[in-house]
Amino acid sequence: MQTNYGTQQTDIACTTIMPTQIIPDMVDDVRASLLQPPRSLSPKYFYDERGSELFEQICSTPEYYPTRTEHHLLSKHAVAIIKQTNPDQILELGSGYSTKTRRLFDACQETAQHCIYAPLDVCEEALIDAAQKLAEEYKWLKLKPLLGDYHGGLGNLPVTQGAHLFVFLGSTIGNFGQTTHARDFIKEVYNAMGSRDHLLIGVDRVKKDHILEAAYNDAQGVTAAFNLNVLHVLNRALNANFNADEFTHSAIFNADKERIEMRLTADSEQKIHIDDLGASIHFDKGDDILTEVSQKYTYSGIEKMLTAAGFSITNHYEDENAYFSLVLASK
Ligand code: AVJ
Repeated sequence: MQTNYGTQQTDIACTTIMPTQIIPDMVDDVRASLLQPPRSLSPKYFYDERGSELFEQICSTPEYYPTRTEHHLLSKHAVAIIKQTNPDQILELGSGYSTKTRRLFDACQETAQHCIYAPLDVCEEALIDAAQKLAEEYKWLKLKPLLGDYHGGLGNLPVTQGAHLFVFLGSTIGNFGQTTHARDFIKEVYNAMGSRDHLLIGVDRVKKDHILEAAYNDAQGVTAAFNLNVLHVLNRALNANFNADEFTHSAIFNADKERIEMRLTADSEQKIHIDDLGASIHFDKGDDILTEVSQKYTYSGIEKMLTAAGFSITNHYEDENAYFSLVLASK
C-alpha cells in the first residue's frame, strides 16, 4: 500500500509494511492489560503525533542524557562506522524524526558513500515530516520511508541488494520489558539481516539511580506531559473518558530489575468508561497504571544479548562516564 503526500517540494510515499506476526489490535491489547490489576499499557501507544513531538522535547531536556550522549557518540564515530560497514542502505527501526541518524548521513557525505535511507516507524506524520526535511538537506539521499510496527516482525521488510546497516538507536530495546523479549527481538533483527549486514544499536547503561530518575522526571514536566498524553490517546482511540488532570506521573528506578518504571497514579477515586471495550475501570486514590519500563544494561548484559542471537561485536563506543553504549555488531 502506498500513501502519497503531495507537497510543494517533494513527493514522499510511505510503504506500509505488513506484519508477519500477529500484533494484537489496540482493543484486545488494552483489554488484556488495563482492565484488571496490575494495570499496564504498551509504551507504543505514547506515539501519536503529540506524543512523538513530546518525545522529541524530552530528548532536549537537560536531564535526559541518553539522546545527547548517543548523539555525541554518533558524531564522534560515524565516519568510522560508515567506513567499516559501507552501507548501500541504512534501515532504521523506530526512526521517529531521524534526528540523530543525520550524523550517519553526514559521514556518508564525507566518505562519498551514497545510500538509501529506509526509516521504519509507526508514526506516519513523523516519517513524512522527517523525510521532507532530509530530502532538502541531503539531496543525494534516496528515501524509502516504511510505515509499520516492528512488533509485528521484520519478515516483510523490502529486500534490496548490497550491504545494509540496521540502526536501532535511543535504547528503544529497553522498552521490551523482560530480557527474554529483548533477546527475541534481537534474534528477529539478526534473522532479517544478510551476511554482509551490520547492526548499530544504542543501549542505555545501568548507573546511579538519581541520574536515571532525573532523566525521567525532568523539571519542565515534559516527561510528565508525555506520560499523561497516553490517556488522551486512549480517549480518542477507544472512546474513553480519562481526565489527565486526575492522574500523576512517576518514574522510579527498580534496582532489582535494573529498569526505570513509569506510572500514572490516580489522584482521587474515579470510575473511567472505555466505550470501545464496553467496560469501566474503578480507580481508588493511589491505584496506578504501569505505562513504560525502560531496561538499563551493563556492558556484559549487552554482550550477552547480542551474542545469544548470534552477533559478534565489531565495535563498542561509550562516553567517558559509561552512561550510554553504541555497539556495532555483525552476523
Ligand atoms: C524511547 C524507550 C528509549 O525509555 O528512555 C523517555 C522513552 N520515556 N522518557 C526511554 C522515554 C520517557 C525512551 N525510549
